[in-house]
Amino acid sequence: MKDVHKELKEVVSSLKGHLIYQRDILLAEGIPAKEGSGVRGQGSVGHKVHTPKPTTDHRPPTTIGSPKGKSHKELLEELRAEIGDCQRCKLGKTRTNLVFGVGNPDAKIVFVGEGPGRDEDLKGEPFVGRAGQLLTDIITKGMRLLREDVYICNVVKCRPPENRNPEPDEIESCEPFLIKQLEIIKPKVIVALGTFAAKTLLKTELPISKLRGKFHDYKGIKVMPTFHPSYLLRNPEAKKDVWEDIKMVMAELW
Ligand code: URA
Repeated sequence: MKDVHKELKEVVSSLKGHLIYQRDILLAEGIPAKEGSGVRGQGSVGHKVHTPKPTTDHRPPTTIGSPKGKSHKELLEELRAEIGDCQRCKLGKTRTNLVFGVGNPDAKIVFVGEGPGRDEDLKGEPFVGRAGQLLTDIITKGMRLLREDVYICNVVKCRPPENRNPEPDEIESCEPFLIKQLEIIKPKVIVALGTFAAKTLLKTELPISKLRGKFHDYKGIKVMPTFHPSYLLRNPEAKKDVWEDIKMVMAELW
């Protein structure tokens, strides 16, 4: 007589292995591996997603621990209003739209990028260009989440002209707003996309290649630095490293 339990265990284990394999393949192959300039936001793409299983909990917005019992959503709206038509640094003069952030105010995971590119500047939403499509693929195909489940923002909220790097004074002016966003959302994990996000959050000069692959601490929140999606457009072979980082993030979340 066969041991039904043993057989069932084997089936489940092989199914699990298969699913993990499928997910790895999807990320390795499914994310567009086009070579490109990699500059922020070239060629706008829609980011609506179709298949993934929604994992957002649909409990009422979090108010516990928030000042005056306000929800995270309300607090983020207040912060956005406080920023206003910002002219605190020189990027205010050249931007089209300020790109505050998008997603679930109660997200367990926040992705922090560098700063808006052309598409983001035009749309007022982070990560909607080519790099954004790649980030969306990581979230949807890799993590099986929706963009709406997570929160996405940048270190600087206005586009640096010609997609140049944000300058120290610009980061300094904008950083308080990133700090407040993270204070309000209180995620379990932050994914720092690229050098500027990692440097700003972790106050380190170490390169992203040295920082990635392990968790760091930001005010008690776990931070996983990883390569920026724009870098992945230029160096698709680094996608496997990002996938390793993302798997560690998922293990932490679930
Ligand atoms: N790159 C970033 O760092 N942020 C965006 O929003 C888009 C591209």
